[in-house]
Amino acid sequence: MKEKIKEQIAQWKKERNAVILAHYYVDGEVQEIADLVGDSYFLAKKATQVSADVIIFCGVSFMGESAKILNPGKKVIMADALADCPMAHMVDVERIREVRKEHPEAAVVCYVNSAAEIKAASDVCVTSANAIKIVDRLPNQEIFFIPDNNLGRYVAKQLPDKKFIFHDGFCHVHKSIYRENVRKARELYPEALVLAHPECTEDVLEEADFIGSTSQIIDHATASEAREFIICTEMGVFFELQRKNPEKKFYSVGHRQFCPNMKRIQLEGVLRALEKMEPEMELEEELRKSAERPLQRMLELAAK
Ligand code: 13P
Ligand code: SF4
Repeated sequence: MKEKIKEQIAQWKKERNAVILAHYYVDGEVQEIADLVGDSYFLAKKATQVSADVIIFCGVSFMGESAKILNPGKKVIMADALADCPMAHMVDVERIREVRKEHPEAAVVCYVNSAAEIKAASDVCVTSANAIKIVDRLPNQEIFFIPDNNLGRYVAKQLPDKKFIFHDGFCHVHKSIYRENVRKARELYPEALVLAHPECTEDVLEEADFIGSTSQIIDHATASEAREFIICTEMGVFFELQRKNPEKKFYSVGHRQFCPNMKRIQLEGVLRALEKMEPEMELEEELRKSAERPLQRMLELAAK
């Protein structure tokens, strides 16, 4: 049954001249049929470079929005209409206006896990892979970091010369990884290194041997001499970790490392998207253009 769907996906992909982009948090069988799999930064970058007419996006809506914002000439079709990230809606434009009024010198730094309207009201976007580098390169001393409180605090710790204003957004998946879970896993696997995503809370990050985005976690585990790792991020990364490192062992810290929105994306949805060419990601041109500016600035600053 699955093999049949995979064959149909391959046929429709040719027919549509489509490319399939997927985030590391989607199920392994979706990662397997994708042309490009990566973290949010990689996917945003690749969206500017693909030559296919159609992008089938296997990720949550803010990722599809970024692909469309950066690539307006392409059709971006979402593999699931309802896959959305709650964090993308945890700050509003009104709050940004208020802070701009109170702190006119502050740069509004927007974690890419945000809706297009929020990006449009910001000065620059960042992902977990490039946030420290980009904030460091900004001329502003004052930073309003939205929406993720944990990532904001992690970045602030690395850049003590800058003054941060935080927001109270969070990722419920990473927030439900607790320090006790990590300590228990360490007791069980004393040889293992702890690799954590900066969306985790500060006390979990304090336990970590390495902190990085999903791609950085995968690269670190692959390059490391260690044989065992405790992984503090969404469980989708286990697929690529194990694929690249069949001889190494990867342990989770409990059953809650599961993003229900990412897991909505299934092979059937990819096939449906290719057949029906919907749901299409569409944005008003004015909004698209305003959101493109901070995303392009991110790509420029990250490339320097
Ligand atoms: P990265 O892709 O930047 O690692 O972010 C993780 C995430 O939560 C995406 O939804
Ligand atoms: Fe959003 Fe967290 Fe899911 Fe990423 S893992 S899409 S930040 S809820």
